[in-house]
Amino acid sequence: MAILVTGGAGYIGSHTCVELLQAGYEVVVLDNLCNASEKSLDRVRQITGKDLKFYKGDILDREILNQLFAENKIDSCIHFAGLKAVGESVQKPWEYYHNNISGTLTLVDVMRQNQCKNIIFSSSATVYGNPAQIPITEECPKGTCTNPYGWTKSMLEQVLTDIQKADAEWNVILLRYFNPIGAHKSGLMGENPNGIPNNLMPYITQVAVGKLKELGVFGDDYDTPDGTGVRDYIHVVDLAVGHVKALKKIEENAGLCIYNLGTGHGYSVLDIVKNFEKANGVKIPYVIKPRRAGDIATCYSNADKAERELGWKAENGILEMCADSWRWQKNNPNGYED
Ligand code: NAD
Ligand code: UD1
Repeated sequence: MAILVTGGAGYIGSHTCVELLQAGYEVVVLDNLCNASEKSLDRVRQITGKDLKFYKGDILDREILNQLFAENKIDSCIHFAGLKAVGESVQKPWEYYHNNISGTLTLVDVMRQNQCKNIIFSSSATVYGNPAQIPITEECPKGTCTNPYGWTKSMLEQVLTDIQKADAEWNVILLRYFNPIGAHKSGLMGENPNGIPNNLMPYITQVAVGKLKELGVFGDDYDTPDGTGVRDYIHVVDLAVGHVKALKKIEENAGLCIYNLGTGHGYSVLDIVKNFEKANGVKIPYVIKPRRAGDIATCYSNADKAERELGWKAENGILEMCADSWRWQKNNPNGYED
């Protein structure tokens, strides 16, 4: 029995492939490489000493999906494939709704035609909008998203929930990630953004490596201890392990389950700068800039439910996240293109 990992060449997907192979699963990756390099999969093989199957293709393409299901006995799907740049989604809403929503509908249709009714979906804390309570539990109501990317996550949660409600043979696990950062400890795999990064940690590492001059801190007048935005940063390997635990839950025929994957701790932008400098002995120059549209002051999880029901808990602290992000960037200044 194999696990289909859509988007498996990407940042979180590739780290999850490592954990799956190390846990003894067979892995089949489908990725169109629109935001990834196939070299990430060579690194997965190098780290694990195991092989995986790769199909270069699109979740919108029924033909390749049919071929993949015909050639492999797929038991469950971990569905990472999707477009994820918040700003770009505001400029190209059709592309985001088509890729993420039509793509998932196509994938799920082919899955059910092949009697594969187990899916783990990459959702996001963004579905809580401006959260009604902090720390955020899974009972916290979903909110208004500020961009099409966020809406695709919120809508797909609803789609998958309704599909499971209509057919109890489905097991659907919605994982709401907080802010994934960090990289594999080997320094061989990490985040590989195209162009100037939008997210905080890749921006910091590119300042550290000398590609960017200084960090712009988006706002220092939020209602937080130091005025800068507070988030729940989680090590990507901890996140990857969370998917392996979620697969075990699926094996229990769990039905519909929703889990926050975070650490339960909030760090401000300036906390991250200070911890990065402390962990790595590198100075990060920064300037305070205006607030970024759509940002909220504070967002961190209560992740007790995942600990209770999945036996999962984030293990890595902020200094390890900073050290591992830097090791990857330092060893691979141009990502997988070196
Ligand atoms: P990523 O861009 O590195 O990985 C996504 C992968 O999907 C890429 O390899 C891309 O080539 C592939 N892909 C996109 N559209 C595809 C399609 N139509 N067919 C086949 N492959 C396709 O992003 P990531 O950070 O690894 O995120 C993985 C998932 O987790 C995404 O769904 C993302 O929205 C979600 N997520 C990410 C974060 C984050 O901060 N990184 C936070 C919350 C949720
Ligand atoms: C963003 C997305 C969210 C998505 C997540 C992961 C928005 C509003 N939210 O979360 O939907 O799931 O990325 O892809 O875009 N910051 C700076 N300077 C920078 C970059 C960031 O000060 O150059 C600050 C931000 O204002 C924020 C914090 O750092 O306070 C984290 O930002 P970021 O890494 O972009 O993640 P989120 O905004 O939390």
